[in-house]
Amino acid sequence: MCGIVGYVGRSAGRVNTEHNALDVVLEGLRRLEYRGYDSAGIAVVSDGAISSRKKSGKLSNLVAELEARPLPESLTGIGHTRWATHGGPTDQNAHPHLADGGKLALIHNGIIENFAELKLELLGKGVEFASETDTEVAAALLGDIYRNRLGGDAADGGLTRAMELACQRLEGAFTLLAVHAEQPDVVVAARRNSPLVVGLGEGENFLGSDVSGFIDYTRRAVELGQDQIVTITADSVEITDFYGAPAEGKEYHVNWDPASAEKGGFPSFMEKEIHDQPDAVLQTLLGRSDVHGKLTLDELRIDPALLKSVDKIIVLACGTSAYAGQVAKYAIEHWCRIPTEVELSHEFRYRDPIVDENTLIVSISQSGETMDTLMAVRYAKEQGAKTVSICNTNGSTIPRESDAVLYTHAGPEIAVASTKAFLAQITAAYLLGLYLAQLRGNKFQGEIKDILADLGKIPAKIQQILDNEEQIKELGRSMADAKSVLFLGRHVGFPVAMEGALKLKELAYIHAEGFAAGELKHGPIALIEEGQPVFVVVPSPRGRDSLHAKVVSNIQEVRARGAKTIVIAEEGDEAVKAYAEHVFYIPETPTLLAPLLSTVPLQIFALELASAKGYDVDQPRNLAKSVTVE
Ligand code: F6R
Repeated sequence: MCGIVGYVGRSAGRVNTEHNALDVVLEGLRRLEYRGYDSAGIAVVSDGAISSRKKSGKLSNLVAELEARPLPESLTGIGHTRWATHGGPTDQNAHPHLADGGKLALIHNGIIENFAELKLELLGKGVEFASETDTEVAAALLGDIYRNRLGGDAADGGLTRAMELACQRLEGAFTLLAVHAEQPDVVVAARRNSPLVVGLGEGENFLGSDVSGFIDYTRRAVELGQDQIVTITADSVEITDFYGAPAEGKEYHVNWDPASAEKGGFPSFMEKEIHDQPDAVLQTLLGRSDVHGKLTLDELRIDPALLKSVDKIIVLACGTSAYAGQVAKYAIEHWCRIPTEVELSHEFRYRDPIVDENTLIVSISQSGETMDTLMAVRYAKEQGAKTVSICNTNGSTIPRESDAVLYTHAGPEIAVASTKAFLAQITAAYLLGLYLAQLRGNKFQGEIKDILADLGKIPAKIQQILDNEEQIKELGRSMADAKSVLFLGRHVGFPVAMEGALKLKELAYIHAEGFAAGELKHGPIALIEEGQPVFVVVPSPRGRDSLHAKVVSNIQEVRARGAKTIVIAEEGDEAVKAYAEHVFYIPETPTLLAPLLSTVPLQIFALELASAKGYDVDQPRNLAKSVTVE
């Protein structure tokens, strides 16, 4: 939610970085636009003054504005791309917001919860506000402290000291970045419960909501802790807490390159990311077992004795990540015989959950910054639970605050709707389940080795589906006028059906629902009328206790009532043909692993249908990639 970039470079004649702040900040915003695209804005410091431009709508609107009214060359700048919370997506509400007579510019990600009270106080001092945002209140507070309390004296700590004092008064979640005309070589930033990383360059330094904000310039990044302030100049990075006590950040190397965050010849990030999936699963599996098939999850630094004593697992996640958890629940319970609940993070702490030191919390989050999940993890830790994070973003908050982390190595996911992260999350959760089964002796080593071998075959099978994607693409295009699509599944196919429906809602803005096929007769079948498209995810007909026959009956039931049935089935399943208008076959695979395959045609369908409607599949309306507010 909201992308933030900051930059300070060094002037020519000293070490010449040859970077104009405007170019660096714009490039960062381009990469961070997935975090919010309601408006964008930039401020630079030049010739002892702040110059800024801001525009509602996508970044391209700001670029057009900058062409019409260029900003001066500068070595210091900040930029913001917004997902609106307080105040609609207008030019006026766009960031940066100015204060101190236009000498100070501030951008913000998060929500200032006590903004109303602070605004009243500032109004009482004669401050005037031009927007409806909480951000402008934070800017005014900072400006007031800088000018009226500190006397605008840089020697007295200047902007950094003012930021400390301002943060002591702010409640809620925030990342703030500020520049001041009187300190032209400095960007000051603060964070509480909202993401911020520092990029270390040669004679230049960077700030970003995540590393993509500066990945074109450096791979050296520094993680910041909670409630910290960072002051960057071209040659220094100083970190303190909100009371001025020195603090340390943790430096790390960003191990993906800028090219992996480009479209790579595909028309959209989403299409590229769908095609990245064989590699996303492969990378997530890589290096996690030895030649004997023994799982070695080195990152999982929780005392094995504690893991052995776990008597309940609670998976916490939201949206697509929660569906990954629901898929994993079937496997974890089957392999480990540990009762496993999956809970939407935002519901969790409000229901007085039963959590103790024998509970293992597994949070799943692509971004590692989802506020609902972070808060739920913190709550569980307070109750004494052990916490493991499954996460795709190195150095993000949720893994940092968890006892252990299992990274999914899907690479950067830029399209707002999640695809490759979902498959990587299922893969990582399966590795965790198998590891627990190994540790607790629920499975023989040979059995684990066999499952790992089956998992190892998944990337090639996903590739096989992608190589034959034209059939499902054609169906997507032909259904661009559909008003509603239903998805049915059973067992692990149930969360897949819900994920298929979510992708369609998000990308194509049409009504879509995923149901457990067995639930049909208990109500949802009333929705079926002539021509209603219904996707059915059919389980494999092979194996013990197969639900295949029951799902085939469900297909017949909806078809008898006029539904147009579209079936995802396993290769060789001839039984479904008679009842399906379209059948899409996926390669044979063990039932528990089937979601890693059956999800793929549903993603392609949603992508293609939305593209046929002319929608922006990378940045669907009203959404943002990383939901950093509750
Ligand atoms: C849907 C989607 C969202 C996220 C959810 C959680 O396509 O992307 O539903 O899955 O907002 O985000 P993370 O995984 O970053 O916690």
